Amino acid sequence: MKRVILTGASGFFGSHLLRHLLVNTDWEFICPASWTHKGTPERIKNALVGGYENRVTVITHDLIAPFTEQTKKGFGKIDYILNIASNSHVHRSIDNPREFIVDNTLLAFNMLELARELKPEVFLQFSTDEVYGVAPAGVNHKEWSSILPSNPYSASKAAQEAMAISYWRTYNVPVVITNTMNLFGETQDSEKYTAQLIKKINAGEIVKVHGAKGDIGSRFYLHARNGADAVYFILKNLPPQLYNEGESPMPDRYNIVGDVELDNLTLADIVAKMMGKELKYELVDFHTSRPGHDRRYALDGSKLKGLGWSAPFDFDKSLKKSIEWTLNNPLWL
Ligand SMILES: NC(=O)c1ccc[n+]([C@@H]2O[C@H](COP(=O)([O-])OP(=O)(O)OC[C@H]3O[C@@H](n4cnc5c(N)ncnc54)[C@H](O)[C@@H]3O)[C@@H](O)[C@H]2O)c1
Repeated sequence: MKRVILTGASGFFGSHLLRHLLVNTDWEFICPASWTHKGTPERIKNALVGGYENRVTVITHDLIAPFTEQTKKGFGKIDYILNIASNSHVHRSIDNPREFIVDNTLLAFNMLELARELKPEVFLQFSTDEVYGVAPAGVNHKEWSSILPSNPYSASKAAQEAMAISYWRTYNVPVVITNTMNLFGETQDSEKYTAQLIKKINAGEIVKVHGAKGDIGSRFYLHARNGADAVYFILKNLPPQLYNEGESPMPDRYNIVGDVELDNLTLADIVAKMMGKELKYELVDFHTSRPGHDRRYALDGSKLKGLGWSAPFDFDKSLKKSIEWTLNNPLWL
C-alpha cells in the first residue's frame, strides 16, 4: 500500500487521476486543495463515489505557501508525490501573466522542497505539450525537444520543469516529468475547448473556431482517464532514474499522447454530431485574436507506447460518454 500526496485533486485532471488510482489500487491519498484556482469540492466528491472516503484526506492549503512543520509531520511516510496542480489556461495567462508565473513557479518550488524533505520514491511533475511551442506540420516533438514556450502559461510550466530538473540534479529528488496533450472528460471547466464546445452547441450559440479557411489549428485529444492510466503505468513500471545512480544528464521524461489528431473544426463537428445538434461556428484568426496561440501542438508518443502503455479508453466512446455525462449534469454546463 502506497501513501501519495496528490495536488490538484479538486481540478479536472487531478480528480480523474484520484478516481483512477482509487479504483485500481489500495493506496491512500493526501490532497492539498486551495478551493480556488478553479478547484471545486464536487470533483473530489465525484472521485470518492463507491466508498473510497476512508483512503483520502483533503487538507485546505494554498500551495504558494510552504507547509507548516505540523502539517508535514502529519503527512507521515510518503511514497509518491504527484504534482498536478497549476493555473492551467492559456487565455487567462495572457490576460493575467503575473498570476500564472507566481502561482505555478511557487507551487512547484514548495512541492519540490517538500519532496527534498519527505524523500518519496517518485516526484511526478505533470506538464504539458505546450512547453515545446508550436509543432510545424509533420513534426511531433519527442521527449527533450527544445523548450520554446509561446505564452505565460506554457512558460510557467517550463519553469516548473526546469526547477524539477535542478532538484533532481542538486538534491537527488526522484523526478519524473510527463508532457500531456489535450485532455477532455467529465467535469472539465468550460474555459477549455472541448467542454466549451459542449456548452455552446447545447445552447445553440456560435462556436469560435481558431483558424482560417484551409489553415485551422489542430491538437491530439485524450480522455483524462487515459492520461491517468498513463501516470499509473509509469508509477507501476518505470521507477525513476536518480541522478547519482545513472549515466544520464537528465531525469526520466515521458510524452502522454492521444491517438487522434483533430483540427479544431473537425472536433467541433464531431461533438455537434454526437449531440445531434447543428454546429454554428465562425473562424477566428488566431494570430490576431490570441497572441501566443500555437496553431498546432503535437507530441510523439512512441517512447511510452514502446514501453508497453496503450490508452485503455477508445476516443469516440469516451467523448460520447463525456458529452452525455455533461448534459446529464448541467452544473458543468
Ligand atoms: N487540461 C489539459 O488539457 C492539460 C493538458 C496537459 C497538461 N495539463 C496540466 O494538467 C494539470 C491539471 O490541469 P486541469 O486541466 O485539470 O486544470 P484545472 O484548472 O481543472 O485544475 C487545476 C488544479 O490546480 C489547483 N491549484 C492551482 N494553483 C493552486 C495553488 N496555489 N494551491 C493549491 N491548488 C492549486 C486548482 O485548485 C485545481 O485543483 C495542470 O498542471 C496542467 O498544466 C492539462
